[in-house]
Amino acid sequence: MYKLEINGGKPLKGKVQISGAKNAALPLMAACLCTDKEINLSNVPKLSDIATMNDLLSYLGAEISQSGNGFKFSTKNIKEVRAPYDIVKKMRASVIVLGGLLARNGYAEISLPGGCAIGLRPINLHLMALEKMGAEIDLDSGYVKASAKNGLKGAVIDFPIVSVGATENTLIAAATAKGTTIIKNAAREPEIVDLANLLNAMGAKISGIGESEITIEGVSSLNGCTYSVMPDRIEAGTYAVAGPITGGETEIEGINPSLLESTLQTLEKMGVKVTRKQNGFTTAFDGKILPASVQTEVYPGFPTDMQAQITALMCVGAGTSFMQENIFENRFMHIPELIRMGANINISGHTLEIKGVSQFKAAEVMATDLRASSSLILAGLNAAGKTSIHRLYHLDRGYENLEEKLQACGADVARIKE
Ligand code: EPZ
Repeated sequence: MYKLEINGGKPLKGKVQISGAKNAALPLMAACLCTDKEINLSNVPKLSDIATMNDLLSYLGAEISQSGNGFKFSTKNIKEVRAPYDIVKKMRASVIVLGGLLARNGYAEISLPGGCAIGLRPINLHLMALEKMGAEIDLDSGYVKASAKNGLKGAVIDFPIVSVGATENTLIAAATAKGTTIIKNAAREPEIVDLANLLNAMGAKISGIGESEITIEGVSSLNGCTYSVMPDRIEAGTYAVAGPITGGETEIEGINPSLLESTLQTLEKMGVKVTRKQNGFTTAFDGKILPASVQTEVYPGFPTDMQAQITALMCVGAGTSFMQENIFENRFMHIPELIRMGANINISGHTLEIKGVSQFKAAEVMATDLRASSSLILAGLNAAGKTSIHRLYHLDRGYENLEEKLQACGADVARIKE
């Protein structure tokens, strides 16, 4: 086990190169199940979630070779149709192999992913969509057993709520279904656009990409292709806070700022100076952090994956701020730890009332989930003295070369073996 030790309290200044997006790479990798041709993915981030997805695809029979951030997938020998509990429980995003496995084999079994720190995370919408496309779904001793002996067929799928994962599973399953599928109330996240672009590069016929209504004309088979994973807008948003929360500035490179416009506009509302460029942006502290009232929403609204990070910034802002979490039912695991670092936060239901304090206090804290952990890092960078963050594996799921990127901005941070 490792911990991160941060000696904070000084302004950061430096450049951060953004890595490939975890939440794009995972569905792109799952889409490789839809063809028996070779898929080459580049700009894949080195993260433990990516390693878990590689383990799962290898277990199913995929041949995977890696060189640097490039992966070659060949899935002509998929022999296993069951995604086992011990892999799925490590990463609930494993559920997005269901659509591809079912489309390819006509049968798939996957362990129910179970909840996680931030909520129950059911998959009923994934299953509803596949049933509409002709799959028979049984739940048996903790596993979903899905069969479509005559193959999947196009259908109109009208999601009652927006779901990123369910939209992804449906896109993957519909690409080679017989007939046309229309997804209504589809998720519009950039990672969905990346997945649809990959599928079209493989020969799929998807239109309405990035809209809330997507049409997929099923094709008989998909080809191989070479594709580069989009940059990570949540990693970029996290480092965008690191400069202003320390009274410094960070220059983010390798991402179009339009991918995180709602985050940048929130930072501007809070008094941060944001300078946008073609393939990057800079955020700088500009005298003080102003109070704000923010709600998490589906894309293009303010992302739930940035809630913990902006909450940390609000903690050391002026006045009283409000943060409302509307996507997940339990995404405030970072709050008790931020309070231990001196924050003044009151939780009422899904809303935080945050009274700004002058500075966080260094402390020993515990990471609980990926994004909660990033808010503790930001608090530790702000606090004078040594903050230790335990259970670093939560962070390694979603932030590539974390300490190196912070050190490049002048942070005094080290990974210590416990
Ligand atoms: C994806 O999770 C992301 N994960 C999450 O990022 C992100 O927070 C989330 O989308 C929302 O943007 C990946 O892409 C791997 P949802 P996903 O289905 O697909 C409910 C991170 O930190 N729901 O859009 O699981 C669900 O409970 C992670 O990188 C159902 O009720 O999210 C939630 O309340 C955390 N039934 C809401 O919908 C379903 O069948 C949104 O979930 C599916 C979802």
